[in-house]
Amino acid sequence: MTVIGTHRPTRVLVDEAAIKHNVSGEVARLDDQTELFAVIKADAYGHGLLRVARVALAAGARGFCVAILDEALALREAGFEQPILVLGVVSPEYVQLAAINHVAVPLVDAEWLESARPYLAADHPLAVHVALDTGMGRIGFRNLDDLRAVLDTITGLDGLQIEGVFTHFATADDPDTSYFQEQVAKFKQLVAAFPERPRYVHVSNTATSLWHAACNGNMIRFGVGIYGLNPSGRAIEQTPYELQPAMSVVSALVQCKQIHAGDAVSYGATYRASGDEWIGTVPIGYADGYPRRMQGFHGLVDGQECTIVGRVCMDQLMIRMPRAYPAGTKVTLVGQDGNNVISLQDVADYAGTIHYEIACAMSERIPRESINPVGA
Ligand SMILES: Cc1ncc(COP(=O)(O)O)c(C=O)c1O
Repeated sequence: MTVIGTHRPTRVLVDEAAIKHNVSGEVARLDDQTELFAVIKADAYGHGLLRVARVALAAGARGFCVAILDEALALREAGFEQPILVLGVVSPEYVQLAAINHVAVPLVDAEWLESARPYLAADHPLAVHVALDTGMGRIGFRNLDDLRAVLDTITGLDGLQIEGVFTHFATADDPDTSYFQEQVAKFKQLVAAFPERPRYVHVSNTATSLWHAACNGNMIRFGVGIYGLNPSGRAIEQTPYELQPAMSVVSALVQCKQIHAGDAVSYGATYRASGDEWIGTVPIGYADGYPRRMQGFHGLVDGQECTIVGRVCMDQLMIRMPRAYPAGTKVTLVGQDGNNVISLQDVADYAGTIHYEIACAMSERIPRESINPVGA
C-alpha cells in the first residue's frame, strides 16, 4: 500500500498550462489527417494519469497510449471514452477484457495470436495494432514471411480486427540518422504486406515527430514532449517549438542547524564541515525517487543554489546553506525559484541517467499538485 505524504511539505507540482502548451504546440504542427495520441503510461511519466489525460484532450489529443492493460482500464473507469492503445504485450488470457473495454493491443507474433484465439469473441472483436520490429529488437514481426502468414490467418477470424500497424525507432533522438533510415526502409518493406491500409499507421514517438515529421503516418504517439522534455536530452538542442517543462519538485526545510569544523553529516560520515556551516534538513530521499547519488549536487533554498552534503538518506537529505534559514523555507529540487533553475535534465546528468527515469521515479508517496490549472 502506498501511503501518500500529505502531512509533509514535499510536493511534485504539475504545471497544467505547460502540458496544454506542449500538446497544442505539437497538434498545430500536424496535418489534418494526423492524430496525436498522448502517451500517458507510468502515471503519465510521474505527472498523474488522469490529470494529464484531461489536459491532453483539452489541448487536442485524440487518444491515449499506455504501457499496460491496467492503465487503460483505469482510464476507462475514470470515464475516458477515447481510443486507447496498450503499447506493451498484453497476456493473451486478457484479450477479452481488453476487447470489452474497447482497448486496442499489439499483435506481435504468430505464437501470441494462437494463444489469444480461444479468448476472441465475435460479439466483441479485439482491435489489434500489428507491431513491426524494424530494428528496436523489442516486440513485433521482423520477417516478411511470418507477417504474411499471420495476416492470412487473420483474414478468416471474426473476433479480431486490424486497427493499426506500427513500429518504434531506436535512434530518432540521435543526430546521426543512418540507423533511423534503415528502420524506415524496413518499415516500408514490411508494411507493403498489408492487403489494405489499417485505420492507424504510426511510427512516431516525440523525437520522430519533432525531427522526422515526414514519417508520421496518420497518428503519433507523443510522450515525453507532453511533459516539456527534450527527448534527446542535450544531443539535439533545437526543437521546432518551445517545450515547457511541467514538473517541479519542491519541499521545505524542517530543521536548520550550525555545525563546526570536522563535524560529519549523514551515513558513512562522508562529509565533514571545514568550518562553521549552516545545514538544512529537507524531507525527501531516495524512497521518494530522489536518487541516492545526488550528494554534491544542489537544490535551491529560497532560490539560492546550495550543495547537498552527505549521503542522501531514504527520506531526508541535508543541504549546506550560506546562513541560517527558518524551518518552512522553500527548497526546490527540480524547477525554478527566482533566477535559478534546476531541470530534470540537470538532475539526470548528475545521476548518470535520463530525465525520463527521474520523472517516472518520483514516488507516489509525494503528493502531486496542479499549478496553472486548465479547465475541462
Ligand atoms: C512504443 C512507444 N511509442 C511511443 C513512446 C513515447 O516515447 P516518447 O516519450 O519518447 O515520446 C514510447 C515510450 O517509451 C513507446 O514505447
